[in-house]
Amino acid sequence: MILVTGANGQLGRELVEKLEKTGMKYIATDYDTLDITDEDAVFNFFENHKPILTFHCAAYTAVDKAEDEGKEDDYLVNVVGTKNIARAVQKNYGTLVFISTDYVFDGELPEGEEYTPTALTNPLSEYGRTKAEAEKMVETTVSNYYIIRTSWVFGQYGKNFVKTMLNLASTRDELTVVADEIGRPTWTDTLADFMIHLIRVRAPHGVYHLSNEGIASWYDFAAYILEDKDVTVSPVTAEEFYGDRPHAVRPKRSVMDLTKAKETGFKIPNWKRATTEMIKQIEID
Ligand SMILES: NC(=O)c1ccc[n+]([C@@H]2O[C@H](COP(=O)([O-])OP(=O)(O)OC[C@H]3O[C@@H](n4cnc5c(N)ncnc54)[C@H](OP(=O)(O)O)[C@@H]3O)[C@@H](O)[C@H]2O)c1
Repeated sequence: MILVTGANGQLGRELVEKLEKTGMKYIATDYDTLDITDEDAVFNFFENHKPILTFHCAAYTAVDKAEDEGKEDDYLVNVVGTKNIARAVQKNYGTLVFISTDYVFDGELPEGEEYTPTALTNPLSEYGRTKAEAEKMVETTVSNYYIIRTSWVFGQYGKNFVKTMLNLASTRDELTVVADEIGRPTWTDTLADFMIHLIRVRAPHGVYHLSNEGIASWYDFAAYILEDKDVTVSPVTAEEFYGDRPHAVRPKRSVMDLTKAKETGFKIPNWKRATTEMIKQIEID
């Protein structure tokens, strides 16, 4: 049996849809069915269901809120929750697939360079720090683990940048978007496929980076999403965009090297193709 945590999130829902198609047996849980911060509930769940594989998608993901009023919840879900899951997985000799983030890096990367999975982490935000701490815990607690760092996640389910841009474009004539933060967008469809692929091919345990191919700024990403919409998209710096509003500091250049993921035999679509496919998907729905 396979356990999915955070199964109502944007990645969790995509993954569950794919597991359903494969016919694999799984249990989809979220906050209301398995609160990962509740140690007893987690251990009882593992005792009752004995999952051999856990796809751990649950997380606290409100990056800006985590800087102040969400700080405690961020720590509780991302660190304490992941510790509970990691210990329960190990007690049952299972395999854990944990999703982490490019925000574990500081983004001070010279142009042309990319973060390899072994690059030094140096998070700038509370969210990045708690995910980095959770990674360490997984590495030191679980024998059979995969840590997949991903970035700029978008997909058919939940809230994300693509949907926000499309919604804003339907009510505004002009949009300003941050142009001095560079990274790699990731379609949940590609990421969920990769999670299942790692298990199928019995890839070596360890840390992987997975996003779509290609590099973009948020401005490039928005301009592509809205290229056939009647809206003017203008580039601004992060400083101009946020002004005095409290916000988490994000990495300026968090381009992750995808070589290790590709060496497992996984084909990664470019972010532009992925974005086009995702927009088609939500337009059909
Ligand atoms: N979104 C991104 O751009 C991005 C980028 C890099 C990495 N990631 C990582 O990718 C993974 C999936 O992210 P996502 O975008 O799918 O996030 P998401 O949409 O926010 O989903 C997270 C899910 O976790 C659930 N959850 C929160 N607290 C929980 C708890 N105590 N017990 C059980 N479930 C709980 C949430 O439920 P409620 O909604 O009920 O709280 C939600 O369904 C996360 O590990 C995230 O850190 C995301």
